[in-house]
Amino acid sequence: MNDVSIDAARLWASHMEMARIGATPGGGVGRLALSDEDKAARDLFVRWCADAGCQVRVDRIGNIFARRPGTDETLAPVMTGSHLDTQPLGGRFDGIYGVLAGLEVVRALNDVGLATRRPIEVVVWTDEEGARFRAGTAGSGVFAGLSDLEETLALRDPDGRSIGDELARIGYAGDAPVGGFPVAAYFEAHIEQGPILEAEGKTVGAVMGAQGHRCFLITVEGEEGHAGTLPMERRRDALLGAARMIDALNRVAYRFEPHPVVTVGSLHVRPNSPNTVPGGATFTIDSRHPDDAILDAVEGAMRAACAAVAEEMGLGLTVAPTAHRVPVVFDEGCVESVRRAAAALGIPWRDIYSGAGHDACNMAHVAPTGMIFVPCERGISHNERENAKPEDLAAGCAVLLRVLVERADDAAT
Ligand code: GLV
Ligand code: MN
Ligand code: MN
Repeated sequence: MNDVSIDAARLWASHMEMARIGATPGGGVGRLALSDEDKAARDLFVRWCADAGCQVRVDRIGNIFARRPGTDETLAPVMTGSHLDTQPLGGRFDGIYGVLAGLEVVRALNDVGLATRRPIEVVVWTDEEGARFRAGTAGSGVFAGLSDLEETLALRDPDGRSIGDELARIGYAGDAPVGGFPVAAYFEAHIEQGPILEAEGKTVGAVMGAQGHRCFLITVEGEEGHAGTLPMERRRDALLGAARMIDALNRVAYRFEPHPVVTVGSLHVRPNSPNTVPGGATFTIDSRHPDDAILDAVEGAMRAACAAVAEEMGLGLTVAPTAHRVPVVFDEGCVESVRRAAAALGIPWRDIYSGAGHDACNMAHVAPTGMIFVPCERGISHNERENAKPEDLAAGCAVLLRVLVERADDAAT
């Protein structure tokens, strides 16, 4: 353990090479789940893993597992990873870091020929971001039994293309069953996506848990009409209805203390023409809070607010839940492993709570799970300007190496 160390320059170079796939003019990455860019990123990861001697398999929801065999292949693997898909105008590190840090651990172990008792698996989860198919943590949700496989494969993007069809198109509709095998422990490295570590001069966050998260797809039905001839009082304008609902939803957030966060981030209008009164509008709601009981009340208030607008304006309304994730508390033993590893390496650390959702939140339902946060510049994320320091990524990766090897050499189940 003492003579194995990660290669900070190699870790950074891998990030920079991966960031070229879907690079945006603003310095970020646009690599939507199951797009051609996502395929290229997956292909690069698979090639790197094959070069590192890993066995690669893909399951039916497109999750990729790269396995570094253990000396006892009968033991459950220790797992690490995250996602390669990004927001439409996303950054170079959100998700990517967790995947490439896992790969760097494998490379570092290979460098010195260090074998572990348990296999180590580096996983790329399908569609963590939810930006395209509007669900989020899709692959890990099915793996953990929180979402149904067939229902998830049937989710469609706004252009009507399903996850299942797109997986087949890009060559990642695997045949391995999804989940159903024991995982000894799961650790995910991730940028913090918030300002706390940087502000306090800490390099590692031992993540204790994450807030609950409920998402919905709202469909408002009105009636198309001619913008020049349809009198105002006869209109059933779906976009106007959606606008009033969005304002009401924002106000709902302020009725609770501490405030939940409520976001409407995506809106589609039918037929989206300057001189047609909109006949249909579809938008998303993302609501989050650490307390599930408050999320329940928020959901009730949001449904009532939308229904009141629809009723007043004579509009049709459908509210379809797309994700329901309860608040998560990570395994105390895993959190303690992260703290101990950081302390042993002389890395300044603190306990922290995640505002963002992660695949680890799903994994916490089926395996002892922990997360390692590292700072990102000014806490900016879901933004092309997202940035992180090579030395901070390296520090988090060194902690990951330590906790993975510790667990992989622990044969107790
Ligand atoms: C993940 O990107 C999230 O929305 O929390
Ligand atoms: Mn992420
Ligand atoms: Mn994200």
